[in-house]
Amino acid sequence: MTTQLSDLETQLSTLKQEAQRAIATASDLEQLEQLRIKYLGKKGSLSQVLGGMGKLDASERPRIGALANEVKELIQAELEQTRSTLQTAQIEAQLEAETLDVTMPGIYQPQGRTHPLTSTIDRVVDIFVGLGYTVAQGPEMESDYYNFEALNTPADHPARDMADTFYLPDGNLLRTHTSSVQIRYMENNEPPVRIVAPGRVYRRDTVDATHTAVFHQVEILAVDEGLTFTDLRGTIKIFLESMFGECPIRFRPSFFPFTEPSAEVDLQWRGRWLEVMGCGMVDPNVLKAVGYDPEVYTGFAAGFGVERLAQVLHQLDDIRRLYSSDLRFLRQF
Ligand code: DAH
Repeated sequence: MTTQLSDLETQLSTLKQEAQRAIATASDLEQLEQLRIKYLGKKGSLSQVLGGMGKLDASERPRIGALANEVKELIQAELEQTRSTLQTAQIEAQLEAETLDVTMPGIYQPQGRTHPLTSTIDRVVDIFVGLGYTVAQGPEMESDYYNFEALNTPADHPARDMADTFYLPDGNLLRTHTSSVQIRYMENNEPPVRIVAPGRVYRRDTVDATHTAVFHQVEILAVDEGLTFTDLRGTIKIFLESMFGECPIRFRPSFFPFTEPSAEVDLQWRGRWLEVMGCGMVDPNVLKAVGYDPEVYTGFAAGFGVERLAQVLHQLDDIRRLYSSDLRFLRQF
């Protein structure tokens, strides 16, 4: 054996031991990569040792070649093993650092909700829009003409007493019902008419569990050729069923200046008959007031209080709860 040969063998064995020790103590992947370059890289220790092979006899080369290969494979295997150990440790450390404590309290986001009056109006409007009606609106400050006169309620009409309201110095008034929207809409549109008109109305009522001076109504108006009381009845029935489910309803004869005949509608709800709306066939005088020919057109109308519907729907004992802004009450809806 030549000295060169045994030299190279010693170098390889030292290299092997040194690399093994270094790899075993590597503390992270970056360090490990540096070690790979140091020992197995192009200009690494192993290449340098193999550089000395040129001085060997051709017969001695295979032996050193085989030994070098063994060392190389061994270092590679150890690098690989340590890499996987370090990688696992790294992932575990990351998971540890990023754990989410699902029991921590969240960030409070106050949530708004729809007022029961608004949601009642929305439901009503949705039902009528579904039946082909258009939403119409009018002003809350009205003239005597739109609120009474054109609705067949002249100044000396006794029906005015029931609807006393707030009069403004200029002679205008706060509308007592949404029926005024009927006139405004018909003045500006030709038949056929199908409108649903929600809005705020005013009465000089003393506030109690069922009355307030300001409340809300929804008005319905349909005018066309050949509309009859049957159409009115069918429409009301569909509406009340959509609102309350299948409940018995009844029509009682009544009086309103702007409808002839007129009726009041009762709904049987939890064993009691409740009055829920007024309605009737549009009085020919109302059609004449807006320039419609009552010989050609007929119509039906209805009007009801939103608070009343909400009271029935949600079983409210006192209408004033709807205005008290008490969150304990409002949060229930
Ligand atoms: N405007 C009436 C009221 O405020 C309600 C009403 C009754 C409206 C009959 C109508 C109707 O359209 O046909 O008491």
